Amino acid sequence: MKELFFESIDSTNTYLKRNYEDLEDLTFVRADLQTAGKGRNARKWSSSKGKNLMFSLLVKDKKVMKAFGSLSVLSAYAVLKVLESYGIEGLSIKWPNDVYVKDKKICGILLEGVSKDEMECLIIGIGINVNEDHFEGDFLHEPVSMKQILHKNVDLNKFKEKIYDLLIETIDSIRSGTDLYEKVIAYDYLKGKRAYCLIDGLRKEVSIIGIDADYSLKISDEGEEKNIFSDEITFHL
Ligand code: BTN
Repeated sequence: MKELFFESIDSTNTYLKRNYEDLEDLTFVRADLQTAGKGRNARKWSSSKGKNLMFSLLVKDKKVMKAFGSLSVLSAYAVLKVLESYGIEGLSIKWPNDVYVKDKKICGILLEGVSKDEMECLIIGIGINVNEDHFEGDFLHEPVSMKQILHKNVDLNKFKEKIYDLLIETIDSIRSGTDLYEKVIAYDYLKGKRAYCLIDGLRKEVSIIGIDADYSLKISDEGEEKNIFSDEITFHL
């Protein structure tokens, strides 16, 4: 594993954006503390020092970069399978890239691309609530940690190794063209739910059909089926 570790950094995603040119494909950057951790839709990602897993994985392989649309869901699937191996029940993937335990969020993923004339790299940024005892503040999605579920501390280093291994396995399956779709859809959190969804600036109530074979989200908008590709859609269940 090509790993860089920082006790404190602004954001592991931002670090890779600044330095990707000098770093190898699949460099793994981890931090104990982020002073400007980023979430999706310009939100912040805050986490206590040393208690949780926060890292970014650099992707420079062109074939994997082309799978941009599936990478969030597949990364979430890799995290979910590791969490499942710890005996956590009620796991699901909330499209496009959150992992939930029942109705609480345990992992968030921020996928970012750097483009010049063409795509230079992708950065998969992952935050997993591991040994957090309690969460303070207001959250759009109520969080939960592994410790709160398992009632014991989790060895962060061993957990990190497992997450890394399964992410690499997942990326290898993208490279070799192995389709994980049938496995992924067994964990579709939004499937069959009704939700308010912001489409082109308009707030609409839609029915969610579920994750489609191309990893977009299929919805029914007043009977008309549509596929949503962007994660800039906000759902309110
Ligand atoms: C979200 O749920 O909104 C996505 C959260 C992503 C957080 C991770 S923590 C490691 C990496 N560095 C960041 O600044 N963000 C991601």
